[in-house]
Amino acid sequence: MPAIFSRYREQIDQELLRATRGPDLSLYTMIHYQLGWVDATGEEVNADRGKAIRPTLCLLMCEALGGTIDRAAPSAAGLELLHNFSLIHDDVMDGDEMRRHRPTVWSIWGQAQAIDAGDLLHVLAMLHVLGSNLDGEDAELCRDAAEVMARGCRLVTEGQHLDLDFESRPSVTVDQYVGMIERKSAALISVAFEIAAIFSGNAPEVRMVCDTYGSLLGTAFQIRDDMLGIWGDPALTGKPVGADIRKRKKTLPIIHAFEKATGRDRGRLSALYSNEAEAPDPVAVSAILDRAGSYAFSEEYMRTYLQKASATVAQLPISEWGRQNLEEVELYMVGRTS
Ligand code: IPE
Ligand code: IPE
Ligand code: MG
Ligand code: MG
Repeated sequence: MPAIFSRYREQIDQELLRATRGPDLSLYTMIHYQLGWVDATGEEVNADRGKAIRPTLCLLMCEALGGTIDRAAPSAAGLELLHNFSLIHDDVMDGDEMRRHRPTVWSIWGQAQAIDAGDLLHVLAMLHVLGSNLDGEDAELCRDAAEVMARGCRLVTEGQHLDLDFESRPSVTVDQYVGMIERKSAALISVAFEIAAIFSGNAPEVRMVCDTYGSLLGTAFQIRDDMLGIWGDPALTGKPVGADIRKRKKTLPIIHAFEKATGRDRGRLSALYSNEAEAPDPVAVSAILDRAGSYAFSEEYMRTYLQKASATVAQLPISEWGRQNLEEVELYMVGRTS
């Protein structure tokens, strides 16, 4: 991971801790478990806490734009809570049992309690942002940040709806896929950058460019995630490989293979996906993807988004230090193995 990730981690963790204090209920154990601080019994542990990409990008952009990170930190942490809320619900929706190398919240406490724990994280995120500077000089900015977060959440829910809806659709186009991941994943990366712009001058044109930049970079990030879902190493990603295939997720490599597989692979692929009695076999599907060149296509497609993202950063009034660090994080996001 680029060194910049350790620059903000302590401050982010302090904010997360403040934002998630609550009464002695196992509901709070669930959210502290999700954040990697405790085990299922509430005992402190040193588990995978997630990469904290969104708050890191937020504070990095804030600093790069000449803003004060202390002012943006509560909102950056709020965004990380929103992300974790979306993960708890996503694992219920996807039926996934492992995340960050540990059993998911729903697989320990059940789906009903997991939905509630996700809702709690959502609310705590908004309360932390709105309450962080209620009477201070940043009250207006906190309100703006909360609005941007709420709009981001709206897009995430739309994207999650499409993601689930696509599972049962026989064919999904690349454009439909992009429209879906721009919402479910890129939206919160946009929020990270827009919050940074809010707390460093709040200029409408800077906010707009930050939003676009986040959307492009976030799209590349999710394409990488979808590649890791097929070709990743579970020992590194902490999530099982093949789950997206079994759920018939219409990810970019799959869409490509549906369009480009030739000969007997074409029929085999549609047979695997149209057999309602049995989930598609990840080994058989990956073999078809490999022969169709779907890995190389996805990598190339992801890079076009990365290039567009880099061209967008050039429009921002940021320091050379910021430019270099953002570039390093961009490369990490599209080359990551975990
Ligand atoms: C996972 O996000 C969900 C996606 C949008 C791809 P991250 O890869 O940022 O997850 P953590 O927080 O580091 O576990
Ligand atoms: C991530 O979708 C988007 C959200 C969590 C909203 P995925 O379903 O692809 O993410 P992982 O692979 O479970 O982390
Ligand atoms: Mg998922
Ligand atoms: Mg999902």
